[in-house]
Amino acid sequence: MTRSLAIAVLMAGAALASVYPGSAAHAATATAEAPAAPKGDPARGQTLAGGTCAGCHGADGNSAIPANPTLAGQHAGYIAKQLANFKSGERKNAIMQGMSAALSPQDMLDLGAFYARQAVKPRPADDKELALAGQKLYRAGNAGNGLPSCAGCHSPNGAGIPAQYPRLAGQHAEYTVAQLRAFRAGERGNDMNKVMRTIASRLSDREMDALAQYLSGLTGGR
Ligand code: HEC
Ligand code: HEC
Repeated sequence: MTRSLAIAVLMAGAALASVYPGSAAHAATATAEAPAAPKGDPARGQTLAGGTCAGCHGADGNSAIPANPTLAGQHAGYIAKQLANFKSGERKNAIMQGMSAALSPQDMLDLGAFYARQAVKPRPADDKELALAGQKLYRAGNAGNGLPSCAGCHSPNGAGIPAQYPRLAGQHAEYTVAQLRAFRAGERGNDMNKVMRTIASRLSDREMDALAQYLSGLTGGR
């Protein structure tokens, strides 16, 4: 990891700790006096998701359309953050801005709690050779250009680390590539301290394809 990226990561941790009072970075000092993290109600989330969201993301959060992300098994706090970012326009997407416009912070937590409890259905990679190259890059990064290992933040099996590091395992390859390209182009800018924008700027198109092929076949341990 380069020095500047390491500093960005440390800063991201400190900033996130103040946003999520229960997060690991803060836990050592704040556990005793921190208020309980707000909780979502998965049953209410299921009712909210059943109408509009299910049409694009699947009734159980496993989307059938590669451009629409699978939400099953994703961390509740990450889902709530993305919905808040779509609503505020910090993450730009016309469809999702409309979909999140009427959601309250409690709705977002409830939806997150529902999707987090659904089991993801992984999709074996179409291109095994490319997936193997992706596995190597995911685990080791690239010392040549200072690309850190993805596993360090998204965990070795792709399950992520709640709540700020999303699960990537079992995601549609097409969606993963689209997000990496959007970070690289600066079109997606809701990552704290440009962590993912910096990382994606060090990836070629072929490396993005390889990573996405590998990730689509992972179960994330369940
Ligand atoms: C018309 C299709 C459509 C509908 C309906 C829809 N979504 Fe989405 N959703 C998308 C697309 C497309 C994206 C990817 C946006 C992008 O590229 O940034 C997305 C992204 C998301 C993400 C970000 C996932 C991630 O991994 O970062 C969340 C969370 C989400 N949607 C939740 C919902 C919820 C909750 C509802 C119902 C209130 C909903 N969506 C309704 C199409 C839809
Ligand atoms: C220093 C920590 C860190 C490292 C290393 C890292 N990521 Fe991330 N990644 C994040 C964070 C934080 C987010 C969530 C940004 C946000 O809040 O929207 C994220 C988001 C993503 C997303 C968007 C997921 C979604 O559902 O929309 C993808 C795809 C992704 N990372 C892929 C990778 C890949 C591939 C690598 C390795 C080349 C990598 N990341 C390395 C921290 C990291």
